[in-house]
Amino acid sequence: MYKAILNHLCCPVCRGNLTLRADHENGEDVLEGVLPCERGHSFRISQGVADFNSEEQGFINQWETMGGEQDFEESDREMEIQNPAEMMQRREMVLRTIADTVSGHDCKIVLDIASGRGLMLTELVKALDDDVPIISIDLSRYVLQYDYRKFRRIAPNRKISYLACDATNLPLKDGVVDAAVTYAGFSNMIGCAGKALQEVHRAIKPGGLLVDSYVVIEKESQGFEALRRVCAEQNLTGAEDFFLHDGLIKHHEEIFSNVECNVVFEGIGVDNGMDLLPYPDEWYAEQVFVSEK
Ligand SMILES: C[S@@+](CC[C@H](N)C(=O)[O-])C[C@H]1O[C@@H](n2cnc3c(N)ncnc32)[C@H](O)[C@@H]1O
Ligand SMILES: [Zn+2]
Repeated sequence: MYKAILNHLCCPVCRGNLTLRADHENGEDVLEGVLPCERGHSFRISQGVADFNSEEQGFINQWETMGGEQDFEESDREMEIQNPAEMMQRREMVLRTIADTVSGHDCKIVLDIASGRGLMLTELVKALDDDVPIISIDLSRYVLQYDYRKFRRIAPNRKISYLACDATNLPLKDGVVDAAVTYAGFSNMIGCAGKALQEVHRAIKPGGLLVDSYVVIEKESQGFEALRRVCAEQNLTGAEDFFLHDGLIKHHEEIFSNVECNVVFEGIGVDNGMDLLPYPDEWYAEQVFVSEK
């Protein structure tokens, strides 16, 4: 975690200010340390990642089970190989659309929400000027520690600060980032995406941007039925809205102004053996929403 972002942080429990005790540093980057708040809450920085006591999702995105460093890299590679070439091309189009949209704005600091394995981060480090700091957040400290090592290797000059935290309760003060982005982040927040959207809005400066992508499907489809079943099994409500164009427009317009939807791609789903959606042989679209605070 870079020292310069301390001013933007607050305690996610009591919203008080945090101070920093750095135990091991690499220049301005703190690898090991502690972030105590004025009311006695305390958060560790470990292996480059500030950990706000978040826990991984129970039923998807369980990065902890991917094992140690080598296993993690291997799984990352396997996931890439499994994806059919055309899906990779579509993914690139979406990632580039998001990165180009924020790089066209005069951003002083950018937030990447639900960074996962860092697909969005990879595109951001290519598109943004070198001196633009990035805050990367995810529920999983394991996946962020992996990203920390990966980006230190492939983009050693980039100032990326990793915060393991819940997007529905960010350890960020109000209005501190110029833009927030996510590739498929909110749609993975099954059952709490609306709350996260509201919380991310809080962290964006007035006039700032949210740029977020979604796989959109039709309501009358097998894919939607499969999604409904998974949500019911997990006792989660409201998640389906984040896979339908009208639901997405409604949720964004409730919170943001000037909501624009860009259809980056429309086509037919293929099975990649990993993801529930897009559903094989059914219509879907990749949509990128650009909203202003
Ligand atoms: C599969 S990733 C999406 C792809 C990723 N944005 C990328 O660029 O590679 C989804 C991530 O969402 C994270 N996530 C799910 N719920 C979250 C929440 N409430 N707050 C923060 N991250 C969350 C998961 O831990 C997972 O890493
Ligand atoms: Zn506190």
